[in-house]
Amino acid sequence: MISLVDKYNIPGPRYTSYPTVPYWDETSFSSELWKQSVVRTFKETNAKEGVSIYIHLPFCEALCTFCACHKRITKQHSVEVPYLESVIKEWKLYLELFDEKPILKELHLGGGTPTFFSPQNLKTLLSSIFETVKIAEHQEFSFEGHPNNTTKEHLQTFYDLGFRRVSFGVQDYDLKVQKAINRVQPFENVEKVTKMAREIGYQSISHDLVFGLPHSNWETTEFTIRKTLELKPDRLAFYSYAHVPWIKGVGQRGFDEKDLPSGEEKRKQYENGKKLLEDLGYIEVGMDHFSLESDDLYQSLIGKKLHRNFMGYTSSKTQLMVGLGASSISDSWYAFAQNEKSVEEYQTKVENGEIPVVKGHILNDEDLTIRRHILNLMCQLETTWDVQTSFPELENALEMLKEMEADGLVEFADHQIKITEKGRAFTRNVAMVFDLRMMRNKPETRIFSMTI
Ligand SMILES: C[S@@+](CC[C@H](N)C(=O)[O-])C[C@H]1O[C@@H](n2cnc3c(N)ncnc32)[C@H](O)[C@@H]1O
Ligand code: SF4
Repeated sequence: MISLVDKYNIPGPRYTSYPTVPYWDETSFSSELWKQSVVRTFKETNAKEGVSIYIHLPFCEALCTFCACHKRITKQHSVEVPYLESVIKEWKLYLELFDEKPILKELHLGGGTPTFFSPQNLKTLLSSIFETVKIAEHQEFSFEGHPNNTTKEHLQTFYDLGFRRVSFGVQDYDLKVQKAINRVQPFENVEKVTKMAREIGYQSISHDLVFGLPHSNWETTEFTIRKTLELKPDRLAFYSYAHVPWIKGVGQRGFDEKDLPSGEEKRKQYENGKKLLEDLGYIEVGMDHFSLESDDLYQSLIGKKLHRNFMGYTSSKTQLMVGLGASSISDSWYAFAQNEKSVEEYQTKVENGEIPVVKGHILNDEDLTIRRHILNLMCQLETTWDVQTSFPELENALEMLKEMEADGLVEFADHQIKITEKGRAFTRNVAMVFDLRMMRNKPETRIFSMTI
């Protein structure tokens, strides 16, 4: 009998946005409309919930050959200051749109490798931004740290600036896997930074693990999970390796396709890994994410406050998220916009006084309705509709879910569908049924990684 994983493991989006980036309608987008939507959302929401800032810091000293993020490999640290100056200038361009001080609720530094930058340079960047905002009472500041280059000074500097969360990229502890992905990173390095962060006072430490990497199997994944548990991070990301070699410039090489685990092996890594994490006290909070009961992420799941955006799952929501830096994506709730990806062109645009967005999407009423349903499914594993949140194709979508119902992945109730415990791994598949933009324009070539 065909397994559920074999049946439902198809290419599909991760839904950090709806519509997903390949389905943005760029013809209806302009930088002027983007600015107008930022102004609108800022006026509507700043006093009530504040704003979020994401800063993309793209540099890494060495290329990990599995990585699908936007990054620039260099050992030249002279790139730091000019890049950060552009980020500050870009923020100032946004400030010109606001008629009052932004209340900064959430701040996340991602990459690339934020800890490529010196603590002093990061402090200068953040202090310049903090001078221009009012920091919210219960702010949530977090950053991604590379265990091989995060220093005590980095951790202390961020802590002193109000950061209480850090996530460390672990991936896999098996040496053969580490060599294949060009990321040799001994357990001791992760242990050292995790312990330092805890001693300094960080409240939430997260580790990123990836299964399905080249040469991995259940034994290497189990070893990785058991080693991770020796350090008991508060949160864990357990990502499925996204193999996307067709996207230009990701650098996914250094291993052969034949080095990748088979579908069956990958399924074992996922299913056994999830069970082991749960047996050891972690709760699956959202897609790919686990946390201890004490962590905020779990608390927001219980309180139905979990939100998902380009930063992943977050425990609070602001409608306005400004993404700064090359390739960053911003979200004003009514529109999305992505910055220029090339570092040089990004910097040139900012120098010329332009908000450096190059593409985006303005959401229409139908998009807003679908976005709401997909967010509900991704964060609460259920969605409900009434007259306002129904849409003409809903009957069709529900019909398509009948097979998933028969497979025990979803349950129907009055004007509601719920994803069952068994269906959790297939959340992306359920969300795809609501994805009208994709339904209407099925991709002819692969644009998404597999759902499992
Ligand atoms: C920007 S990186 C983390 C920060 C830092 N650069 C580091 O490597 O430690 C964010 C995370 O994305 C995940 N990631 C990157 N490429 C991936 C891929 N192809 N499939 C699944 N996860 C991936 C990794 O777990 C990685 O830690
Ligand atoms: S995994 Fe991190 S360090 Fe490695 S290339 Fe990607 S962003 Fe850079």
